Amino acid sequence: MMWRKHKTWVVPLGILSLLFLYGMMGEMAWGDNSKCLSCHRDETLAKKDARGNKVSLFVSEEEFKKGVHGQISCTDCHTRILDESHAGKGVKEADRRVDCGACHEGSERLFKTSVHSIKAEIACKECHGYHYIKPLTDLRSTTYRTNLVQTCGTCHPEESKQFGDSIHGVALSRGRPNQPTCTTCHGTHAILAKSDPQSPVHERKIAMTTCPQCHAAEQITREYRFTTQPVKSYYDSFHGLSYRGGDTFSANCASCHGVHEIRSSSDPKSMIHKDNLQKTCGNCHPGASENFAKGKIHSVASIRGVEFGERAVGWVRIVYIILIVAVIGGLSFYNFTDWLRKTIERRPKD
Ligand code: HEC
Ligand code: HEC
Ligand code: HEC
Ligand code: HEC
Ligand code: HEC
Ligand code: HEC
Ligand code: HEC
Ligand code: HEC
Ligand code: HEC
Repeated sequence: MMWRKHKTWVVPLGILSLLFLYGMMGEMAWGDNSKCLSCHRDETLAKKDARGNKVSLFVSEEEFKKGVHGQISCTDCHTRILDESHAGKGVKEADRRVDCGACHEGSERLFKTSVHSIKAEIACKECHGYHYIKPLTDLRSTTYRTNLVQTCGTCHPEESKQFGDSIHGVALSRGRPNQPTCTTCHGTHAILAKSDPQSPVHERKIAMTTCPQCHAAEQITREYRFTTQPVKSYYDSFHGLSYRGGDTFSANCASCHGVHEIRSSSDPKSMIHKDNLQKTCGNCHPGASENFAKGKIHSVASIRGVEFGERAVGWVRIVYIILIVAVIGGLSFYNFTDWLRKTIERRPKD
């Protein structure tokens, strides 16, 4: 049979040519990069920008290969620069532009909805860098949770400084788990302005989700030995009740604690340190006296309360409830018997 006769060499030949093609492809991909790098691995390669400043055109081959894009070719990103013909001729702004969204559609779609894209037109590289991007889990990645304070801080220095010095920021920098970082509260790619009702830090959400996501979470509060009491007691307070009723003038967590500059009550710089409370409450209660700000804010009336005051109020509340039940119950009973008596009296006698 013809087929049988040829079989002996058809198969090895097929495999050989496949290997050859595969080798060519690898060669092409890496050939490409080494072509580009033949000039760009030169540390002194530079050009002058429109303002006459020197811009380095050096790309470190070693660092590039270590990054997440180390396996793709230069021209996968630089789709408009395909060979060395640009050298010496000057590259147009449009030619060096890279479309990260071509491969990261999901991230780009989210990003397009953000205040960063709509209002500011910042690029992916502002947060990620480009040639030497590290995996998300790498401690040196610009977007690693502890590094965001710095990454976001290049454009938001004020918020980052305040946050870095806060109780959350200090614990974060020490690597403690469950600490918020910028993106915990603001989100990542779809960051919105605080005035946007969809923003996770919109004032209507601060006391419902932004802070309670941790301060009402049993697992986190147990680990850090603080309680869910602040959130519970807030919901029962004047402020909490009117806030939940929709009163935007009422106080939420941030009105008393601040946002990025949150500190423990024992810290003299804290907005809730006893020496600063008069001022903090005074923001909304003009002329608040020292006494006004003295009462415990997060106390809950409970007979199992931590403090004598809380237990006392708890007992008073129970006595009060018993009294109310007794009075209303007594009144109802009296009315009922009265009605019964009258009905019986009015019944036609036969
Ligand atoms: C993941 C996509 C990506 C890959 C892969 C990539 N680049 Fe880039 N490159 C960029 C981005 C983004 C910029 C910045 C463009 C801008 O400023 O708008 C850039 C800028 C440059 C610049 C200008 C100098 C600078 O550092 O800003 C040079 C030169 C360059 N790339 C060369 C290379 C070479 C050579 C390779 C292959 C070894 C490569 N690039 C691979 C995305 C990439
Ligand atoms: C023969 C050397 C040479 C080769 C090969 C070469 N480049 Fe360049 N490249 C240059 C020079 C020189 C410039 C600066 C041009 C100028 O003055 O604007 C430059 C500029 C660039 C820029 C724009 C930098 C900017 O800020 O405007 C990018 C991006 C770039 N090269 C990418 C590549 C890529 C990708 C390859 C491979 C496909 C490559 N280069 C191959 C020499 C080279
Ligand atoms: C304001 C800063 C910022 C900008 C701008 C930004 N990113 Fe990100 N991106 C992040 C952070 C922070 C993470 C890490 C999220 C994490 O660790 O869970 C991330 C994660 C990613 C990831 C990993 C997958 C994922 O979503 O978890 C990809 C891919 C990505 N970004 C691509 C992009 C692209 C493409 C753009 C531009 C369209 C972009 N990013 C713009 C901050 C930014
Ligand atoms: C040609 C396609 C391509 C382009 C263009 C591209 N990337 Fe990537 N990117 C990849 C691939 C492939 C990976 C590796 C995916 C993986 O490891 O799961 C990756 C990984 C990443 C990661 C790390 C995700 C992780 O889970 O650790 C980030 C962040 C990222 N890219 C951002 C960018 C940014 C920013 C740009 C534009 C400067 C860009 N990419 C352009 C293909 C691309
Ligand atoms: C615990 C939650 C939380 C964390 C962590 C956090 N923020 Fe905020 N951020 C908020 C809230 C809530 C607001 C809205 C405050 C208001 O209504 O005035 C806000 C507002 C902002 C604003 C707008 C400021 C203004 O007045 O217009 C910026 C910018 C900002 N944050 C950046 C950051 C950066 C950068 C980080 C990390 C260093 C960060 N945030 C960390 C909760 C947080
Ligand atoms: C390259 C600069 C840059 C970087 C990096 C950057 N931002 Fe921004 N951010 C801006 C600009 C510009 C605006 C828009 C200001 C405006 O016009 O309202 C903005 C707006 C914001 C707002 C909305 C402020 C408001 O009006 O309520 C928040 C929140 C914010 N950024 C948080 C972050 C966080 C979190 C990061 C890091 C993950 C970050 N930004 C990284 C430049 C930056
Ligand atoms: C990602 C979780 C998380 C979020 C979100 C968060 N916190 Fe915290 N917070 C913590 C942890 C954990 C600690 C304990 C830090 C320590 O003891 O080192 C803490 C500590 C505090 C303290 C000091 C407690 C003490 O006993 O001294 C205050 C006050 C506080 N947070 C208020 C807030 C407010 C207000 C918000 C919302 C704007 C908020 N936190 C958002 C996790 C969070
Ligand atoms: C009206 C002002 C006010 C509001 C609103 C408020 N707090 Fe407080 N918070 C205080 C004061 C004052 C203290 C100091 C201890 C006390 O009086 O109970 C405190 C203490 C705390 C503590 C313990 C910190 C320490 O160092 O003792 C945490 C945690 C806390 N609050 C979280 C929250 C959260 C979360 C919210 C929102 C759900 C909130 N607070 C709303 C004023 C307020
Ligand atoms: C963001 C503004 C704001 C801050 C800050 C604030 N409050 Fe209030 N507070 C209000 C508003 C508005 C009401 C009226 C709520 C209602 O009953 O509808 C109120 C009501 C009260 C009441 C109920 C009695 C009354 O006067 O109506 C007390 C008590 C009170 N606040 C104490 C405090 C203390 C103590 C602090 C400081 C730890 C404080 N508040 C901080 C806005 C604030």
